Amino acid sequence: MARKFFVLVLILKFLFNVFVYADEGMWIPLLLEKYNFEDMKAKGFKLTAEDIYSVNKTSMKDAIVIFGRGCTGEMISEKGLLITNHHCGYGQIQRHSSLENDYLTHGFWAKDMSQELPNPGLTVTFLISMEDVTEKVLQGVSDKITEAERYQIIKKNIDKITSEAVKNTHYKARVESFYNGNQYFLFINEVFEDVRLVGTPPSSIGKFGGDTDNWMWPRHTGDFALFRVYCGKDGKPAPYSKDNVPLKPRKYFPISMKGVVEGDFTMVFGYPGSTSQYIPSFAVQEIMNETDPARILIRGKKLDIINQAMESSPLTRIQYSAKAASIANGWKKWIGEIRGLKRLNAIERKINFETEFQKWADSTKTDDKNYSNILSKYKELYAQRSKYNFASIYINEAGLGCDAILLTVRLRSFENLKNADKNTVEALAKEAKSKGDGIFKDYDEQTDKKLFIEMTRLYYNNVPAEFHPAYFSMIGKFSKKHSDPIVAFADYCYSKSVFANKARFEKFVNELSPKSYSILQKDPIYVLMKDYIAVFQDKISNQIDKIDYVIDSLDRIYMKAQMEFQPNRLFFPDANFTLRVTYGQVSSYYPADAIKYNYFTTITGIMEKDNPDIYDYDVPKKLKELYINKDFGSYADKDGNLRVAFIATNHTTGGNSGSPVLNAYGELVGINFDRNWEGTMSDIMYDPEMCRNIILDIRYALFVIDKYAGAKHLIEEMDLRY
Ligand code: ARG
Ligand code: GLU
Repeated sequence: MARKFFVLVLILKFLFNVFVYADEGMWIPLLLEKYNFEDMKAKGFKLTAEDIYSVNKTSMKDAIVIFGRGCTGEMISEKGLLITNHHCGYGQIQRHSSLENDYLTHGFWAKDMSQELPNPGLTVTFLISMEDVTEKVLQGVSDKITEAERYQIIKKNIDKITSEAVKNTHYKARVESFYNGNQYFLFINEVFEDVRLVGTPPSSIGKFGGDTDNWMWPRHTGDFALFRVYCGKDGKPAPYSKDNVPLKPRKYFPISMKGVVEGDFTMVFGYPGSTSQYIPSFAVQEIMNETDPARILIRGKKLDIINQAMESSPLTRIQYSAKAASIANGWKKWIGEIRGLKRLNAIERKINFETEFQKWADSTKTDDKNYSNILSKYKELYAQRSKYNFASIYINEAGLGCDAILLTVRLRSFENLKNADKNTVEALAKEAKSKGDGIFKDYDEQTDKKLFIEMTRLYYNNVPAEFHPAYFSMIGKFSKKHSDPIVAFADYCYSKSVFANKARFEKFVNELSPKSYSILQKDPIYVLMKDYIAVFQDKISNQIDKIDYVIDSLDRIYMKAQMEFQPNRLFFPDANFTLRVTYGQVSSYYPADAIKYNYFTTITGIMEKDNPDIYDYDVPKKLKELYINKDFGSYADKDGNLRVAFIATNHTTGGNSGSPVLNAYGELVGINFDRNWEGTMSDIMYDPEMCRNIILDIRYALFVIDKYAGAKHLIEEMDLRY
């Protein structure tokens, strides 16, 4: 009898646990104690849940920030020193770079605090506390009201909660929805706005392997940069001032010099941006068959043109490097995502799940719940959504996808020129000057025109005529006399428009007056922009918004239903750019039959990739010398190898870049910076066999700071643990 019972328990345990794969999940720090702590301990974690997150005492969360708008960073000294990824600080590094002072190419190291470079607009955000406010947010909401009423009530409640939460403080508050609107948390933040660049390796280290190696393992990128957070003398956030002092953070991470070995516990603590784990098969098929392929095609074309331009001159390389990196990043990720989803038979798996779900829903119908028609509604909605989704991708990525037209988008306030008074004209001129500078600093007219030609061509050929901007009639006119009317159209636009040429634009802005309004109404690129926007507003967004509105509410209900369907499964909430913990272990993997990828890379691999003829693989001379002399200091592993990066099974996504990777004792062992290509579908479906996050070994960063850059004073600021 006892034995039978035991077997039954085993079976049940298996049935219920099987739903959460090992290491899958991005968990809420506040709830670790409740849901994850036992599992973390079993996997090797040696501290307490309170050490990770606590409101009463300092904890790890006090050392972690949102860096800028989309990355994570962490404190590594008591003087406000912050480490994040090179690719997260890339925009700042680029802005400080010119042909004379080319920090992208040569790196930058402040010799002391007086040399650190301010970055207007860059902020770091600390989390002070978080709190479950679901009840307060949903106060007044019931099943009887309409979705629109629900939305209004929730908005009002949230406004009240946030304004009360930070009354008489300098903190900022936001409320975020979890589980698609089934749970709400309040976040209290402290935002610092004086953040200075302290040091960055050259791109040949910080971006080694470039877009060729991006999203790939084995990897050899020294993807880190150092900043410092400053505050007023009172320790509170203050705008940049040379009188500001370095922030003394409540907590900073000690740095482990011991490295990791296969199987070691690791945990990533940071800000994953967005995932879609619980979407229906129809949404997966939209991503795999419509959204991703369209974006891949458009971006692939763009990259052909931009990469060629970047090869042709050092100036265009500086100008287009950040743009190329961001275009290529999505492009390559989506290629990997489709492959991964295909390999996992993602659609089939979702359908199997949905079949079971449907059976359950049909058999448990009660008065107060009816989940039976969720899936059929989804099906209908995604079918309706398809053509609008497609056109919207094409407008955003292709139609409005070159710099000249992007400038017109940013200057739609020019519409106010009509009958404008003197003050308005002056204000518009000022705005135009600054937005123009932003675009033209990194603008090459010939390259932009080539982009315009190919983007227009794609739009013209691939998007149904009902979504064509009215101004495409010009293309029709050109087709009578020109063999390639789209090229003729581009010639016309780029020779006439004030937005396509820096000198013409500056002249136009200097002479700005109410009369300029009529010039604008004849400017080809300006008119084209207005027509694209008109198509978008009249024919796309009002349709798609209506559909998405219904999908959103369905998502909320479906999420709740899935949780009721599998009451013993531990559901983690989709990423929503709030602070999360993910944990797992250092682990090699098999990317394909008979191939095994080891869990770490070394400097030897950098030398193997060395090729002075290929920009991405041009190893700096100094690094080669250090390698030849085996001058690795105390940063080498036991065997004398200098490790560069390693991989683990932590479930991460975009936004986790720069996140601290910690060992069982809460010491920093690395900086998260990427995922492997075989695992990029983990935003939708995680696979423990194949999904790995890619981590910079902190010792390689220290080696670069110390041995390569000679910035030992920075190392001395840190707390190294041997
Ligand atoms: N794939 C990484 C992430 O998603 C790194 C991107 C930056 N690097 C690059 N070569 N584009 O952010
Ligand atoms: N590089 C990504 C970022 O910027 C992290 C990679 C990922 O998507 O996991 O956050």
